[in-house]
Amino acid sequence: MNVTSSEFKISAVGPAQYPVDGLQEIALAGRSNVGKSSLINRLLRRKNLARTSSVPGKTQHMNYYLINQSFFFVDFPGYGFAKVSKQQREVWGQMIERYMLEREPLKLVLMVVDLRHPPSKDDVMMYEWLTHYDRPICVVTTKADKVPKTRWQKHAKVIKQDLGMRPGDPFVMFSSETDMGKEELWKIIEDHLGE
Ligand code: GTP
Ligand code: MG
Repeated sequence: MNVTSSEFKISAVGPAQYPVDGLQEIALAGRSNVGKSSLINRLLRRKNLARTSSVPGKTQHMNYYLINQSFFFVDFPGYGFAKVSKQQREVWGQMIERYMLEREPLKLVLMVVDLRHPPSKDDVMMYEWLTHYDRPICVVTTKADKVPKTRWQKHAKVIKQDLGMRPGDPFVMFSSETDMGKEELWKIIEDHLGE
C-alpha cells in the first residue's frame, strides 16, 4: 500500500458518531497495551498519529483514522485492563460488540495479541465471538522483537492452538519496532478492501 495521506478523523463512543460516508473500515481489537495504536503508526509510518502509552488504557474511544481518503482504521480501547471500573469495562465491551456485530463497512478485524504470551481468556472469547458472527479476522502477533527468533514458531503455534484458529484465517508475526510483518499485513488488508 502506498500511503499518501493519513489523518485522525473522529472519536466515537457509539453508532451516533460513526461516519456516514460508507468508506470501508479495518478495526483493531486486542488487550490493553498489546500494541494496537503502535501497529497503526508503524503501518502508516507516522510516529504519533495514534496515541500510544506504556500505561494501559490509553485509547478510550473508538478512534477513526482516514487513509488515502479511501478507508478507515478504527482503533479500539483495549479490553482486559483491570484498573478501569467494572462499569467502564462493560460500556467498552458493549461498544466493541455492537460495532463488530452490526457495522456494515467493517471489512476485516485485526486481532492483535502479544507474541510473548499465550492468549488471555479475553482474547479467546473475542476470537470465538468474532468467528461466531462470521467476521473476517487476521490474527496479528505483535512485539515479535521481544521474542528470540528461535522461539517465534513455537509461540505462534501455542497462540494458534489456544485461540482455536480457523485454518483459513491469516496470521502475521509483527513488530512495531522493526518492519517485520508490515508488507505481509498490508497485502492482507488490501485483499479485504474491495474496489
Ligand atoms: P491501549 O490503547 O491501552 O489499548 O493500548 P494499545 O494496544 O494501543 O498499545 P500501545 O500501542 O499504546 O503500546 C503499548 C506499549 O507497548 C507502548 O509502550 C509501546 O511502545 C509498546 N509496543 C507496542 N508495540 C510494540 C512492539 O512491536 N515492540 C515493542 N518492543 N514494543 C511495543
Ligand atoms: Mg491504543
